[in-house]
Amino acid sequence: MTGISATKPFLRVVAGDCEPIPPVWLMRQAGRYLPEYRAIREKAGGFLDLCFNARSAAEVTLQPIRRFGFDVAILFSDILVVPYALGQRVTFEDGEGPRLDALADPSELDRLHRQIDHARLEPVYEAIGRVNEALPPSVALLGFCGAPWTLATYMVAGGGSVDQLPARRFAYQFPDAFAQLIDVLVEASANYLIRQFQAGVDAVQIFDTWAGVLPAGEFQRWCIEPTGRIVAAVRAQVPDARIIGFPRGAATELGLYLDAVAIDAIGIDWTVELAFARDHIQRLRPLQGNLDPLALLVGGAALDRSVDAILETFSHAPFIFNLGHGVLPETPIAHVERLVARVRGAAARG
Ligand code: CP3
Repeated sequence: MTGISATKPFLRVVAGDCEPIPPVWLMRQAGRYLPEYRAIREKAGGFLDLCFNARSAAEVTLQPIRRFGFDVAILFSDILVVPYALGQRVTFEDGEGPRLDALADPSELDRLHRQIDHARLEPVYEAIGRVNEALPPSVALLGFCGAPWTLATYMVAGGGSVDQLPARRFAYQFPDAFAQLIDVLVEASANYLIRQFQAGVDAVQIFDTWAGVLPAGEFQRWCIEPTGRIVAAVRAQVPDARIIGFPRGAATELGLYLDAVAIDAIGIDWTVELAFARDHIQRLRPLQGNLDPLALLVGGAALDRSVDAILETFSHAPFIFNLGHGVLPETPIAHVERLVARVRGAAARG
């Protein structure tokens, strides 16, 4: 292997190599469980102000790298900056999560721009450059976006929703309008990812947090097919783009997703049985995952047992150690230190 990927273990695995010590990083590795994050967050004002301050976003991206020495820095931002750049109102209320002005019926789609406003996202691209200046050469920089379905669940409901009912109902009731919304999100997301690559990310991850709530036919139409189009559009501009998919909750449909979406590697959540994942998923692509974030929060024997089982099952083929979803805010820092030491010590223990 030549070039940049030779120096970065994460990129070697994404390209299909098996590392003796798997690279490790955690979804939501920057966040409220870190005192240094809370300090910057307090000064920043609102959460989106933090995302759109290039200097602060870069600093927050680097915090977990300095503290834990992870193999990957994930750009600090949020998936909801894309609806914001399409002209939707997005705010984050403390302790309540995101609020958007809901798209209650098809006529309200007219409020959205057809294309994302890159000017609104300029600080994100600037943050990428700033992170790259400070990042150790062995650490990869990962950009991301939300998948269209997951973005649509927030855009239609106006925030988080139980079982994503508003978006599911909208999709059944107004399939043509919903398809138009998904089309806008496919184009916006592809252009957003292309700009992230041009600004200097090494790879990107597409988060489909709510992929698991759809019946098979809807999963095909609203998750697999649009994500496949994003991957194709990004590759048309950035032929060597490295892309990870994370269709959370896709369970037995992970194989269908991999057949149709030309991603390089796949993230799996903690509910996927380890031997099933090894035999049916890791056989097809490099695998990333899948520790239960609650085992990390609890620590002790529950954490050690879970980490060991994951390492034993996945370490013999291309594998990136991660959680099955994001770090929970109450997670003790000592547990994260213990996790990293255990992953890196496992090869030595044999
Ligand atoms: O460290 C990282 O992983 C990078 C940063 C990142 C954030 N959000 C920061 C954040 C990433 C990759 C995301 C993705 C994201 N955002 C997803 C997909 C992955 C997932 O977690 O399911 C989703 C669904 C969102 C939408 C979102 N953003 C919600 C529902 C919330 C509120 C609930 C919560 O978990 O706090 C956010 C806020 C948010 N995004 C915070 C952070 C650190 C917390 C804000 C704060 O209070 O400081």
